[in-house]
Amino acid sequence: MELANKIALITGGSSGIGRETAKLFALEGAKVAIADIDAVGGLSVLNEIKESGGNAMFHQIDVTCESEVINWITDVVNQWQGIDILVANAGILAIGTVEQATELDWDRVLAVNIKGYAFCAKHVAVHIRQRGGGAIVNVASMASFIAFPAFALYNTTKGAVLQLTKSLACDLAPDNIRVNCVCPGAIDTLQTQQFAESQGLKKEDVIAQIAQKVPLKRVGHAREVAHAIVFLASEKASYITATPLLIDGGYTAN
Ligand SMILES: NC(=O)c1ccc[n+]([C@@H]2O[C@H](COP(=O)([O-])OP(=O)(O)OC[C@H]3O[C@@H](n4cnc5c(N)ncnc54)[C@H](O)[C@@H]3O)[C@@H](O)[C@H]2O)c1
Repeated sequence: MELANKIALITGGSSGIGRETAKLFALEGAKVAIADIDAVGGLSVLNEIKESGGNAMFHQIDVTCESEVINWITDVVNQWQGIDILVANAGILAIGTVEQATELDWDRVLAVNIKGYAFCAKHVAVHIRQRGGGAIVNVASMASFIAFPAFALYNTTKGAVLQLTKSLACDLAPDNIRVNCVCPGAIDTLQTQQFAESQGLKKEDVIAQIAQKVPLKRVGHAREVAHAIVFLASEKASYITATPLLIDGGYTAN
């Protein structure tokens, strides 16, 4: 097991990439503290993990609210006496150009996709430091590198997650805390469904269209991203920090 006896926090664990990551972390021996705004999904993943013999807890929080992040982390530490790993994953899609976006659109996407990541890192760092080191994995995107047309807000936030990752990596390296990010390409999750709906298209048609542009000729599965997150969080990545790992089927090589 890659994560035996580790205590890991995962945001956005109720659905998609976060959900698969929480399940895989538990299979790899970690105790998993899941936080998400969606309690229905959170409780169902919690049950799944427990039914397969894993150890997990769920907190319903909004990562944009710093006091809720603090309360979550405090509660986990009170119950499990420490933290080794953070996976900052909770994110939202925002569609549109700069000209189309409203102030409210910007406020929400910056809050979830950037501030939420920063609040979690800020308040776990002290606990990971106390354990003598550990790992943070941020979920960025291939949009950290390339700009998708009419995705200006999302592209901007995912570019920022890459720089946040590098900044944290430099600042936390003296404490033996490694900070990396995964950069998924097109992965079949709720976000794909939301995108299809926003365009008035069927999800299957969107997936088929995207697959044509991917060298591997398919979209990815959330579990394939989860495996990369386990690797970066594990001792196997002990000399890797400040690094973005693309999981995009070759999309950005074209
Ligand atoms: N699906 C893709 O193709 C893809 C590609 C690249 C990057 N990503 C990134 O992966 C991450 C996970 O996305 P996903 O595709 O699994 O989407 P998803 O919608 O299935 O999961 C996102 C989860 O985050 C939670 N969440 C949203 N806002 C929150 C908040 N304020 N507080 C707490 N929880 C909140 C949602 O409830 C949901 O459970 C996101 O950061 C996303 O940008 C996804």
